[in-house]
Amino acid sequence: MKDKNPIILALDVRDLKTGLNLLEKLDGLVQKVKVGPGLFLKEGPLLLRYLHEKGFQIFLDLKLHDIPNTVSLAVQSAQKLGVWMLSIHLSGGEKMLNQAVKTASGSPLLAGITVLTSFDDQELKTIGVSSSVAKQTEFLGKLAEKTGIQAIVASPLEASFLKKELGGKIMIITPGIRLLTDRRLDSVHGLPDDQARISTPLKAVQAGADYLVIGRPVLEASDPKAVLISILDGIRSMETLK
Ligand code: C5P
Repeated sequence: MKDKNPIILALDVRDLKTGLNLLEKLDGLVQKVKVGPGLFLKEGPLLLRYLHEKGFQIFLDLKLHDIPNTVSLAVQSAQKLGVWMLSIHLSGGEKMLNQAVKTASGSPLLAGITVLTSFDDQELKTIGVSSSVAKQTEFLGKLAEKTGIQAIVASPLEASFLKKELGGKIMIITPGIRLLTDRRLDSVHGLPDDQARISTPLKAVQAGADYLVIGRPVLEASDPKAVLISILDGIRSMETLK
């Protein structure tokens, strides 16, 4: 992990106003924010311009999957909006990935989606893929490496295996982060919400994650700033012990 602040806050909020209130409360502790289709479709590109001007690094998580020319146009638009990182489906194929990498030319960074965490082996079969989730993830990870995609999104439980298989060159981004203290929340929200393959921030970093995408453990905390401080302190003390 090279970045001293590896947290990407998933801005899964109702609207820009709610997001800005939260970011203000977090007092500069977060520099990277992930914007998904919900917020993007609500607020549009102006939201990205605004966040960019405020100095945030934006991970635009639209999971692009289309023909090479269409994806390439989307990459150009993201580039003009100052997007730091953009997600793209690796299953879009080699030609699409090559063209996206060429168009982006390092900015935005491209984050490849391997197999969605909502898939299991059975579900993969329904779209005609007979490999297991693990094999297909490895296969698509290698395609990312071959085409020059800079990062891949994977569950924390796959991070160490992927880091080893892909020679450590590709950055690994892991959602599915949960805190041990979430148990207190669970009596209210139910276990373990919609994330199945989860891990704690420290375990994800130990497994080789370069960036952690964190949403609800911070968004739903009674004191989001305190939660972030404790995660960052934990990671930093682990890094200094190395
Ligand atoms: O709230 P939570 O911490 O579960 O948020 C995780 C974020 O990461 C969400 O914005 C979700 O869309 C995203 N994500 C995920 N699993 C993936 C890719 C992205 O949970 N495989």
